[in-house]
Formats: sequence, structure tokens, C-alpha cells
Amino acid sequence: MLIKNARLVLDNGDEALRDILVSEGKITEISEEIGIEGAIRKIFQNESHLVKMDYLDLEGRYLIPGVVDAHVHMRDPGLTHKETVTTGSMSCAKGGITTFIDMPNTIPATVTEEALEDKRGIFKGKSYVDYGFHFGGSGDNNSQEIMKVKNTASTKVFLNISTGKMMVEKDETLDDIFSSSKIVSVHAEEEMVGKAISLTKKNGNELYLCHLSLKEEVEELKRAKSEGMKVYGEVTPHHLFLNTDNRDENEESKKLLIMKPELKSNRDNESLWEALRNGTIDTVGTDHAPHLLSEKREKTTFGIPGVEHSLEMMLNGVKDGKISMKRLIEVMSENPAKIFNIKNKGRIEVGYDADFVELNLDLERVIKREDVVSKCGWSPYEGMKTGGTVLTTVVRGEIVYKNGNFKNKIGREVEFNG
Ligand code: DOR
Ligand code: ZN
Ligand code: ZN
Repeated sequence: MLIKNARLVLDNGDEALRDILVSEGKITEISEEIGIEGAIRKIFQNESHLVKMDYLDLEGRYLIPGVVDAHVHMRDPGLTHKETVTTGSMSCAKGGITTFIDMPNTIPATVTEEALEDKRGIFKGKSYVDYGFHFGGSGDNNSQEIMKVKNTASTKVFLNISTGKMMVEKDETLDDIFSSSKIVSVHAEEEMVGKAISLTKKNGNELYLCHLSLKEEVEELKRAKSEGMKVYGEVTPHHLFLNTDNRDENEESKKLLIMKPELKSNRDNESLWEALRNGTIDTVGTDHAPHLLSEKREKTTFGIPGVEHSLEMMLNGVKDGKISMKRLIEVMSENPAKIFNIKNKGRIEVGYDADFVELNLDLERVIKREDVVSKCGWSPYEGMKTGGTVLTTVVRGEIVYKNGNFKNKIGREVEFNG
């Protein structure tokens, strides 16, 4: 693949137009000018089986590293009427997410080695983008299984009630789970954030605080960081862009805009943006938690879809001066890959996987229900304008999505370094 005239955001924050050469799924050269003939010659040296070379001229449009979403509930297996790996990964590809990490609250829950292996079998060959798995901590104390499983992002522990029956309550069990995990991701709300931090301090491991939604939670995270702890924070686009005013607009919104943690106030929106800018919060993750509209209307059902519009919504933040393009790339692509040690992901750099998103910031669209590809069939952002459009999504040098069309289910499991 040869990409011409891509607008890159460099490490020092400057922007520059660059050409990029990709061979066998990896970035092999980034320079001011790569001629087509030279590119063909270089690629033929490496790829004898080469039959075609994709050529993209970006004409100065942004190319950013593919988004890594560390917090996705793909519902496969067991809840596939809501989402499947295939529909969920289409939603990712359309939204510029080239790697997602799946959560364990499926049916069965991913809390045994066997369930994880089954899930691996289910995902294989069905995803448009790359993926990895969080293993689940179980109330039955599965620390033996935690120590057995290989190549997972973290152990996910629910410290509050949510979708699925995965809450872990007993202190003894929590201690065992934390002490057998290198990094724990937690669903922790309010005072549970402090509890998760204490458990981490006691066991000397790392902590990923999912979906922070309150100013006070951010302050706890800041304190832990200042003590030198390896504690990381995530925020969702919905806790940045939405608050209780959106939820209380009408009866329909009251039912749809329900999730855990719930939407908070404008005060919290602002402190989350500030923490995202100043480095207290490290990542944006969607908590993509699709449910059908019928399920949401019938009874209180926690969760909203997110992957399809997270990047395009975050571009509104760039346009409104709430976050720089450089910081957006850090929190959406680079940091999630770094925190979970995902091999070769998250940066546009020679040697890394050629995972890219081409953006058109001049093309703003209104989000409409009929355009949604997620199986749940709706979006919390309907009627809102995007800050730009994902034109092309590339995974390891292959176009998986372009201008509304989906190409190849080439997604595979990522590798986590040590
Ligand atoms: O709202 C939520 N939905 N919060 C969670 O923690 C889980 C998620 C789901 O799986 O539906
Ligand atoms: Zn959660
Ligand atoms: Zn979640």
C-alpha cells in the first residue's frame, strides 16, 4: 500500500504532509516523498506474491493511527440478538476503530480458560478489525484460572451492579483476584474507585479505572497518580458530551440514555474534559454496550452503543477547542495500546502495524438512526452533528471500510507483550 499526501500530527504537535509505504501489513517507510515507481520496486522485493498495490492519495487530509477501544461489549456469545462480532466490528470499522478489546460479561461469562478459548473460536474469521480480550474476575474466586490464561489485556472486575451477574463482593476474593492479575480493569463507581485503588496499592499491581464520570472520581485518580501508582483512567464520549439534561429531554430519552455509570452534570462534563487534556485521564473508551430499542423501552436496561460515533463525536471536541488533535490521538490510539501493551499498535511509525483512519474534517454529518450498522439499530447521538467523517479505515495495510462500504473480515487477535 502506498499513501500519498497524508496530514500527520508529529510528536512535537506540528502537522506535516507525508507519504507512507506499507508492506506485509507493516509501516516500512514514512517520508516527504515516495515515488510510485520506487514504491513498487521496494514492495516487490518483499512481497513476491503481490498482485495489487492499494494506492491512496489523501490530498492533505488527516491520517491518524487506528483507534484502539479498550472497552467494548460485543455480546458474542449468548447475547447475539444485540450485537455479534461481525456487526460490532463493522460498527468499529465505520467509526475508525481498528482494534477493540472485548469485555467478559457475555453468556457464558469469560471467567474460565474454557470460556475464553470458546470465545476465541467464535471470533475467528468474523471480525473486520483486530481484537483482544479482557478476562473476567468471578465472585466464585477464579484466581487459578486467571493465572492460567494467556494473552489477555487484563482482569475485568465489576465492583458495582451492572449488566450480567459479575459483581465481586467478598474482600477475600477481591484480594485473590487482584494479587493474581498484573493489571485489573474495574467498573468502580463513586466510593468503589477508592476501594479499587486501595486493593491495587496493597497488591502492587496496575489499575485501569473504566468510565470515570464524576469530578470526585477524577480527584481520586489524580491523588493515586501523584503517589506514583500505576493507575490509569478512562472516560467515555457519552460522559463528555451528554449529561442529565439530555436524558431528561423527553420520555424516550429517559429510557434510552440510561447506562452505568449514569450521566452526570455539566460540571462533571467540564472536569472530565479538563482531566483528559491535562493527562489525569489517559484514554477514551466507548463502553459500547448495545441493547435493542425494544429492550430499552420495556424495562430499565443499562448501556448504550458507542463505537460507531466515538471518533467522529470526539472531532467536535477538537473543533470546539476542548482537545488538540495530538491529544486526541494519544487518548484514543496511543495510550490504550501502551497501557495494555498491545504489540505494534497505536502509532504511525516504521515497524508498527499499518492501522490507519483517513478523516475529512470538512465533512460534518448529522447522525441518523437509519445509518447505524450496529445490530442494536440506534445511537445516543442521533440528531447531533459529527465533527468530521471517517472516510477510510485500514487494518494492517488492508482497507476494511471506505465511503460506506465494508471490504474484508481480516481482523485477528492482537498480541499483548509480556
Ligand atoms: O451500562 C452499562 N452496560 N454498564 C456496564 O458496566 C455494562 C454494560 C453492559 O454490558 O450492558
Ligand atoms: Zn462498566
Ligand atoms: Zn462496560
